[in-house]
Amino acid sequence: MEIIRLLADGGLHSGEEVAECLGVSRTAVSKAARRAADELGIRIETIRGHGYRLSSPLELLNSQRILSLIDSKVARLEICDKVDSTNRHLMRAAADGAPAGIVCLAERQTDGRGRRGRHWVSPFGSNIYLSILWRYPSGPAGLGGLSLAAGAAVAAVLERSGVDNITLKWPNDVLWQGRKLGGLLLEVAGEVHGPSHVVVGVGVNMHLDAWQGLAIDQPWADLYTALGHRDCSRNLLAARLITRILQVFEVYGREGLAPFLSEWERFDRLHGCQVEIRLGEHGTRGTHLGIDEQGGLMLQTADGVRHFHAGEVSLRPLEE
Ligand code: BTN
Repeated sequence: MEIIRLLADGGLHSGEEVAECLGVSRTAVSKAARRAADELGIRIETIRGHGYRLSSPLELLNSQRILSLIDSKVARLEICDKVDSTNRHLMRAAADGAPAGIVCLAERQTDGRGRRGRHWVSPFGSNIYLSILWRYPSGPAGLGGLSLAAGAAVAAVLERSGVDNITLKWPNDVLWQGRKLGGLLLEVAGEVHGPSHVVVGVGVNMHLDAWQGLAIDQPWADLYTALGHRDCSRNLLAARLITRILQVFEVYGREGLAPFLSEWERFDRLHGCQVEIRLGEHGTRGTHLGIDEQGGLMLQTADGVRHFHAGEVSLRPLEE
């Protein structure tokens, strides 16, 4: 990691400087640099006789910077160079008694997870992989709408950061021009009548190369493209997301989903459209009527209005 911190500025660094940073001899530098690049899946350019540099600069996560930009109270901020999944990391911490308000960010995830058992592509140093732990005195059943409240917060932060036409697709897809820009994964545990704890995980694609996106099984976008080929600060975006999600936790605990419904509807891409809800091979078609106060989707079908809850179902438009 030390070599990446040295090269993150995108400038050219001499072999001597890199050798000192890695604690190896000048002759071992190129092998060590190659090993670091392979391990992290990034490119380090070697300029013969001059030194080493990254093919493009990286803004690495910086806890001091993030904490200085957060308005809410954070119990602890952990930044991992590498973790299996920030969600899983905090679910483990929760089982060990970690307090509400712990935040985990990672430079990369080796086993990033999406909804419905999918993999979340999580290369090093360029996207947001964020999880936050919260605790509620009530049981998990009341937390059904929290993922929508948090989704509306993520969409609002991205809009405030300059992205036009950001939309949400129930329950948790964050889309730009119909392509997946980010997503949320909530994991909940607890006693039926409480207490319970929840980990809200947020992934936002900020900068993905085409070859990295090959592993994503649906149309995708990154923030760099959505901002018209402009970079946005990772540390600032992380701080804004953390601030808003911590506020959501508190308001949701007092008032449930109701205060967030109008914001959700403002971003809802498919409201009023013909859609299909799929559970495995089984599909139910109808008109998307909006979201109920538990976060369920209301569907006008030929047999009347039906309410669906997120779980394992997926939603797809029947028309664009
Ligand atoms: C989805 O749209 O399928 C949800 C994606 C959620 C990805 C984030 S990245 C941070 C956190 N850790 C994980 O393993 N997943 C979530």
